[in-house]
Amino acid sequence: MLGQADHQYRTKIIQGRYPWPTRIERVLPMLEVHGVFKSYATPQGPLPVLQGVDLTLKPGSSLALMGESGSGKSTLLHLIAGLDKVDHGSIRSGELQLERMTEGQLAHWRRTEIGLVFQQFNLIGSLRVVDNLAFQARLAGRHDPRWQAHLVQRLGLGDLLERYPEQLSGGQQQRVALGRALASKPQLLLADEPTGSLDETTSGEVLKLLLELLDDSPTTLLMVTHSPSVAARMAEKVVLHGGRLAGVDAH
Ligand SMILES: Nc1ncnc2c1ncn2[C@@H]1O[C@H](COP(=O)(O)OP(=O)(O)O)[C@@H](O)[C@H]1O
Ligand SMILES: [Mg+2]
Repeated sequence: MLGQADHQYRTKIIQGRYPWPTRIERVLPMLEVHGVFKSYATPQGPLPVLQGVDLTLKPGSSLALMGESGSGKSTLLHLIAGLDKVDHGSIRSGELQLERMTEGQLAHWRRTEIGLVFQQFNLIGSLRVVDNLAFQARLAGRHDPRWQAHLVQRLGLGDLLERYPEQLSGGQQQRVALGRALASKPQLLLADEPTGSLDETTSGEVLKLLLELLDDSPTTLLMVTHSPSVAARMAEKVVLHGGRLAGVDAH
């Protein structure tokens, strides 16, 4: 059921050739993108962006998505987050199939199972750090003060809780954005060039924190990055080129 998916494992009941259902516990892909096509309507006619994208993500894995500017990386993330719809193809997570879901179901998927982090931190300016952190978790009905306190400690945000976003540095803002995305315990964290607007040292620090945090969490990470050194620290790497993914090593 939506929002009730086991955080780590999915269990599939397979009715085999036996007269009783055989319960097979195995790790199913967290996400399966199959044959996805997406184009945008422009005054010059349709602009093909994704032209047959296939991708499989295992639960708890981390994947770097690379590719030139304009190659369609953000488009793919938007489709996975249910912010836009594919033209052809399918995006599945367990028993869910995104293109068959209503807007309301997609909003629920995004709220409960997806964490989003962008290059421009997108914090809510009128809310203190502590309330920014809890924002999505509250929307998802998953606010867990102990988990939030853990994130605050791991992300080193303890002294900043009463501040407003404009009183924070870029690196601090991105740490809050990460905390906010993880506070709702999403199955999948989609990060679109999350360190793209930070200097190299800060970017390295934020990334280190993120990877450490995810190390002991079942959340799967799909991160867009231009940095080969960032990509090298992730378990797998794919490149989007000519509308398709190359170098997929997701098994
Ligand atoms: N809403 C839109 N309408 C028309 N064209 C778009 C839209 N969004 C993105 N594009 C175009 O689609 C291509 C891929 O964009 P994007 O997914 O943002 O690439 P990337 O994130 O890899 O830089 C670009 O040529 C971009 O201009
Ligand atoms: Mg982009």
